[in-house]
Amino acid sequence: MTPEDAKPGRQPDPAATPTDIYPHRPLVSHDERQSLLGAGRVRQRGCTLWLTGLSGSGKSTIAAALEAELLRRGVWAYRLDGDTLRTGLNAGLGFSAADRTENIRRIGEVARLFADAGLVAIASAISPFRADRDAARRAHEGAGLAFFEVFVDTSLTVCEQRDPKGLYRKARSGQLAGFTGIDSPYEPPERPELTLHAGSESLEACVGACVAMLEAKRILE
Ligand code: ADX
Repeated sequence: MTPEDAKPGRQPDPAATPTDIYPHRPLVSHDERQSLLGAGRVRQRGCTLWLTGLSGSGKSTIAAALEAELLRRGVWAYRLDGDTLRTGLNAGLGFSAADRTENIRRIGEVARLFADAGLVAIASAISPFRADRDAARRAHEGAGLAFFEVFVDTSLTVCEQRDPKGLYRKARSGQLAGFTGIDSPYEPPERPELTLHAGSESLEACVGACVAMLEAKRILE
């Protein structure tokens, strides 16, 4: 895929649909979500939490648990997961730098719309390039919407030991080229609003830190 192909508005090429993606199942069913919406216990402001980190760092797990915790508190929240969106909105995009940029641009735009609608959007994608994350931030802040960059700071060593999808093994053995952290770069955030050490802290602690930040920033009252 060329940078030209990745321009907004082009038609996805089904032949370019990548393999090795793993949609993350929600912890809250649609029916449960519906019964929770409008519970009206908490006042909320729309915003986006943007979880960035290496593959296997825990982004999707934290995002799913955070979404469930917020919904159970009566907060309208919705997850935008990189792997999942690559089966629909972003089908046809691969892992070249241009395709990752377009992937993040689209996730950023959808997150901004959800935030504008008043929801807490929880984006979780590797989003390896600082410039792409900064562009998503600018899109929010330009519209007067809060954007919180959350660095899921799990070391490459730990991610590779965990290797939940077997992709590090594939990348190391040369069966998967351009894998983030191995032969494709990851640029860590310089000033994230929150850093989670998901390699050493519990899932509950990570979720609790996100909720505490939303309270401190007066997103939830
Ligand atoms: S991003 O780089 O464009 O932000 P995204 O978060 O959407 O990536 O998708 C990452 C997921 O795609 C990984 O968790 C992994 O399951 C899968 N994947 C397949 N190939 C690659 C690759 N070359 N680099 C990183 N992730 C890959």
